[in-house]
This record gives sequence, C-alpha cells and structure tokens, in this order.
Amino acid sequence: MRSSPKQPHRFKRLTVIGGLAAALSFGTVSAAAGGVQVQGPPGPDLTAAAPAATSTLLPDYDSEIVGQFDSVNSVNHIRHLAVDIGPRLNGTPQEREGAEYIGGVLKSYGFEVTLQSWGPVSTKRVAKVTSSDADLPGGPNWQMAASTSGKFTGDTGVKGQVVDAKTGQSDAEFPADTAGNIVLMDYSTTAAVRNTAVANAVSHGAIAVILAYPTGNSAPPSFTLTTPQPEIPVIGGGSAHNTWIRDLLAKGPLTLTIATNEYVTPMGTNVIGIRHAVGDPTGTTAPIVMVGAHIDSVLGAPGAHDDASGNGVSLEIARTLSRYPLDKELRIGGFGGEEGGLLGAKAYVNTLTAEEKARFVGEWQMDMVGTPYEPARLWALTPDGQSNYVVQEAYNAAARFGFDGLRNCRLGQSDHQAFFDAGIPSSLFIWLDYRPPASPAVCGPTGGTYVTEPQYHRPTDTMDNISPERLQTTLDVVGGAVAHNALNAVTVSAISDAGQPLVGAPVRADCGNGPRNLGTTGADGRLKAVFPHVKCDFTVTVEGAVATERRVSISGDQAVKVTVDVTKPTISLTRPTDGAVYTLGKDTDASYRCKDNLSGVATCVGTVRDGRRLDTSTVGFHEFTVNAADRAGNTADQKVTYQVVYRWHAYFPETMNGKAGSAVPIKFSLDGYHGTGVFAPGYPASQQVTCDTGKPTGAAEPIRNPGHSGVSYKDGQYNYVWKTDKSWSHTCRRLQLKLDDGSSHFTTIRLK
Ligand code: BES
Ligand code: ZN
Repeated sequence: MRSSPKQPHRFKRLTVIGGLAAALSFGTVSAAAGGVQVQGPPGPDLTAAAPAATSTLLPDYDSEIVGQFDSVNSVNHIRHLAVDIGPRLNGTPQEREGAEYIGGVLKSYGFEVTLQSWGPVSTKRVAKVTSSDADLPGGPNWQMAASTSGKFTGDTGVKGQVVDAKTGQSDAEFPADTAGNIVLMDYSTTAAVRNTAVANAVSHGAIAVILAYPTGNSAPPSFTLTTPQPEIPVIGGGSAHNTWIRDLLAKGPLTLTIATNEYVTPMGTNVIGIRHAVGDPTGTTAPIVMVGAHIDSVLGAPGAHDDASGNGVSLEIARTLSRYPLDKELRIGGFGGEEGGLLGAKAYVNTLTAEEKARFVGEWQMDMVGTPYEPARLWALTPDGQSNYVVQEAYNAAARFGFDGLRNCRLGQSDHQAFFDAGIPSSLFIWLDYRPPASPAVCGPTGGTYVTEPQYHRPTDTMDNISPERLQTTLDVVGGAVAHNALNAVTVSAISDAGQPLVGAPVRADCGNGPRNLGTTGADGRLKAVFPHVKCDFTVTVEGAVATERRVSISGDQAVKVTVDVTKPTISLTRPTDGAVYTLGKDTDASYRCKDNLSGVATCVGTVRDGRRLDTSTVGFHEFTVNAADRAGNTADQKVTYQVVYRWHAYFPETMNGKAGSAVPIKFSLDGYHGTGVFAPGYPASQQVTCDTGKPTGAAEPIRNPGHSGVSYKDGQYNYVWKTDKSWSHTCRRLQLKLDDGSSHFTTIRLK
C-alpha cells in the first residue's frame, strides 16, 4: 500500500515579471510596446530528463544475490552427501566424511574451517552394503543395522551372491546353493522366529544373513539373537531393502558385499566454516549471521532430504556470499548427531562465549528443505511458536521475491532448539505437511501436528525425495534473508537544498561495476538498501536535477545523505536592463552574472558574452537573453528587450501656430543620413486635439499620399513638409512622427 507523502517536494516555476521600463523624455516616448515579462523557460521536458531505461541498470544487491542462487549446485552437494557418502549415522566415519566434504567446499570459498569433535556418543553398529555387479536402488551405499550377535567384519566385509530363503523357518525355503552365499530372509518381530531363521541359515552354510522387514515402510531393525552367531555378520534391513533385493534377484544373480563395524563410544563431528568480516579478521566485533544444517542421518537412511538438503542450501548460500566483501561475519554450521538429540548443535553452542553469543544476529536452521511430497509447505518453526527476527527476515525476503507461501508455527526437534535455548534468535526452515492448531488455539502455546513424507527416516530418503524447485524457493527465502543480513543496511536520505525530504526520488548507486537501481525514496524521503563492503557513488534524481554523493565508503550499517540542488541558478543582468534605450552605435558592454549556491554554475551564456559590446548597430528593439544551468541540471533564463534609437534633434517647437491649408516644414536631424525610410509604417500621422488640454478628439489619420514620404535630406537635416488641410481651420492638431527606431516625436499646431 502506498501512503501519500506528508511533505511532498514541490517545484515552483520561477516567474520574474520585469517592471515596465518606460523612458520618458521631453516630447519623446521611447518604450517597448507593452511590459516585458522575463520568465523562466517552459517546464523541463521530464521525459528527456528521466533516468535511462531500468533494464540497462544493475539490480539492487538483494536481487543480484538471489539471482545467483542456483539449486543445481545444491542438488550436486546433496548427491555427494546422500549418494557418494551415503547414510551418515552419528559417530560413524560417514558423518565425519560429510563434515570433511562440507569443510572442503567451504575452504574453497575462502572460509576458515574447523572440524569439531565432541562426545563420546553411544556405540554404533552398522553394516555397509554395496554391490559389485548391480546398481543398487536408492544409492550405492546401503546401510543396515549390524547385530551384536553377529560378526563384525571390519571394512573388508564379506562378499557373496544373495539367495532368498523367505522366512527361513524350514529347510525347504533354503535354495540348494545357500552354502557360501548371503541369505536374505524376512525379519520377524518375534525373537524366536528370528533366532530359528538365522540358525537355519548358518547350518546351510550362509556367509552372512540379512533379515529385512517384509512389509510396511520400515527402517532397518537393530536386534539381538538368543543364539549368538559370531562367525558371520547378521544384519537388519528395512522393508525397502527387502523389496529392492528381491526385485534385483528376479532379474538375475546379485552380488553384495557386507561390511559390519562396531564403533564403540565414538565421537561426533561438527564442521564450522567462518568467513570473517572485512576489518575484523579475528572475529571480535562483527555481527554474526549463521546458517545451519545437520550432517547426520538416521540409521539406514541416505538422508537426502533429512538433511543433506539443508547443507546443499547452506553451501550455495556460502558460495554466493563468498563473492562479496562483507562487514558481517558469516558462519556455516554442519552439525553432527542431530538425530541423536541435537547433540552436535548443543556441543557447538556450548563452545560459544557470552561475547560471541551477543554478536549473533540470528541462526537460520535448514532441515528438510525441499521434498517433492505434495502436501509439504515451507514453514518457519520456532520452539515457542512465536515469530522472531530470523522468522521476520525470512518473511521479508519472501515478500521481496514474491513468495507468499511461508508460514510460522511451533516446533523444536531440530538444531534451532539449541540456539533458541542459548538466547539466539533462530528458526527451523522445513518443507513439511505441518498442521497448525485449529482456531481458537494459536501456535504459540499449543503448536500443531505434522505428517512427514513417506521417505522420512527411511532408506528411501534418496535423491528422488529432492525437489530442485523447492530447494530454489528455500534458497530465495532463507538465502535471501541471510544475504540481506550479511550485507550492510544503508539508509539513503534524499533531501533538497532547502532541507525538505525528497519523496519518490529514484536512487542509484554505482559501486564500481555500473549504476544500480535501488528504487525510489518513500514518504520520509528515505530508502533502505543493502550493500557489501564497497565504495559507491550515490545518485538521486529529481525532475531533472541530479546529485551525486561520491566515493561513499560502506563499512557497516550506516546512513548516507544526498542533498539535491533543486534550486535554479540566479541571473543578475545589469546591462542591458529591460527597456534600456541606446543611441545608434553606442559603445556599451553587456554585464551579467549567474550564481548557484549549492552545486555551482555550470553554464552562463548571454546573447553576447559578459563584458562584450552590445549590438547597437541597428535601430529598433533588440532581445537580450542569458541562459544559466547549474551542475545539478537546473536551468534558468532571463530575457530583456532594449531599444536602439537615432540621436534625435528637433528643429521645430513643441507647439506652434499656423494657417489651415499651409505647408509646415518640420526639420530634424538623426545624426547623419539614414535614408528616407526613417518613418515607421503609417507615419507621420496627425490627429485633432482639444486646444486647451491637448487631449485627442479624433482618430489619428496617416498623412495621405503614402508611397511618397514627403521627406528630404540636406546639410545634415531632414525636412518633412506637412501639408495641413483647409478644413482644419480653427482647430488644433498634433502631428506624430514615429520613426523606424520605435521612438515618437510630436508637435501641436493651432490653425487659423
Ligand atoms: N529433520 C527432523 C526434524 C523434523 C521435525 C522432521 C518434524 C519432521 C517433522 C530431525 O532430523 C529429527 O528427526 N528430529 C527428531 C528429534 C531430535 C531431537 C532427535 C525428531 O523429530 O524425531
Ligand atoms: Zn533432520
């Protein structure tokens, strides 16, 4: 919604009305016809002065950065974590490999990287299942649960063909070639059934046993056997593993390698990438903007969505921001052990000093940030169900880029809880089918419920559970908020030279790579924009007036003031003044000055240059113009009219007596001979006047016989013979001699 400006800047068109300068002399009136108005130029052509098409301008930094986010890069990171590395159970080498991968990427972006080991955590027993001859669905690295009742083979493992022994409850279910091979059987929830199945497999010469859930959507089960089988690995698979193996066996032989390991009270791993702020290389003062995701996945799950996706988005944010010098400290956290109870995040938060915590702007936690599962939506979930700075900034970023699908409600259950508990504003960003409480209950005290996608915490949480489109939305919203906060918040105030806020004025900044369009100032004459650590020229344009604040160093949140000279330059024209009268050939110089208090005079151009001779070479009215422009682009002009006249001398009196019908000689000189066409058209003319007062009583009549001037020149004098009419007897008449220099001369005659 737009509000109307309180104090809009208005531009007054200057109108200077020059006084009518009428020079009066005895018997002579010399004046320009009518008053002369010297006024400003017509309003400037705003279309011509308008900024160049915005398509030629760079966008603001918010838009520029968001425009660089590419979910393809995120997908590649997710693939490396979920497919190449595979399941990353807390405390296993894969969790550490994940941390090392993330750390390596961050290092390549110039981050200072620390791997944090913390723990110990509970003992983990896992099987890594790979194949030398099949493309395993869901990825080349399956993870199953290794039973303590079986053998731990170490990384080498055992390799063999897989045979299907169904439930493994009778000899008939075991194929003839069971000996020397890996036996797949259904996992039973009854311990006695499981024990029989494994014992039967061992007696048939199995080199490894897989008990996998036959139905449902089950995760790999961890189990023990009443009868330990220390000679062979015994492992539990999820229902997807069961289906996948049986589908592969239907097509032909399948070779698997099973490597079981027991990691006794291992350490968990976090990776922390820090990009220090310019000017704070040791990280003591700069505000901290942090994004986080968890590296680990639950047992058996590749964790593509939960939560390789979060790291994929973090790394793309890191890549993009690493191209800008920043005055904020950027931290990227990859936390281990989230699935074990937010262990890594809690360990990390515990390492923060009070001073460090105080520097946090916020922590944007991403966990499950792009499943194609249709009912999922993007949520900003906080432990208390209240919005906070991190949530609000995500909403603002969403609004900047036209995404209105973000919602806020209550949930812990991820690493943001650890930051929340430490008093750091944080939120979980998650694509989830979250259902807020029914009204009148509200998110704050109550919270909602949720339904996860079917792949959640399952071996099927693979690349198929990744939506590049939704990752892109997360990049735009979360990445957009993080970028906005990692840059400097700059308030540009545009004010006129008179101190008024300039409303709706376009603002641009050139920070070394061309002008950027920052938008227009609001009702308070201000505009907010974000900048990296740069030097910029800020330009404000107002109806053709331009002001540039040059080489402004942006090195933190700050204000920039741009004062725009919206005042026209002034012109003081001392010669010629309006209505000035000069005799023909007079040697007189033009004299004028232009002045501009703020931006200064750019041009000041008169009809002739200041100090040069005025043109007095021809009689009549002459225009003189001065055009001025200031450096801001404001223009002014002043126009006057001066008159050049003959040097007049009358050899006739002002009043005389005569006889009607007689010819009256009228003699005058003009300082030399100027031809016989010295009268203005229609002149001389005569007019009856009242003898007492001299007031005209009739219309002026041009003298007859036009074409014949009736004027002659001799010995430096003009002689005009005025033929009076007999019918004028006993009247008074005034003769007007108007010359082609615009001057008029009179004489009145009383006729007998
Ligand atoms: N990615 C989940 C978070 C989550 C929350 C998923 C709500 C779906 C709905 C996270 O990795 C996780 O599984 N968290 C645990 C809790 C944690 C404290 C062990 C969970 O939600 O069970
Ligand atoms: Zn998770």
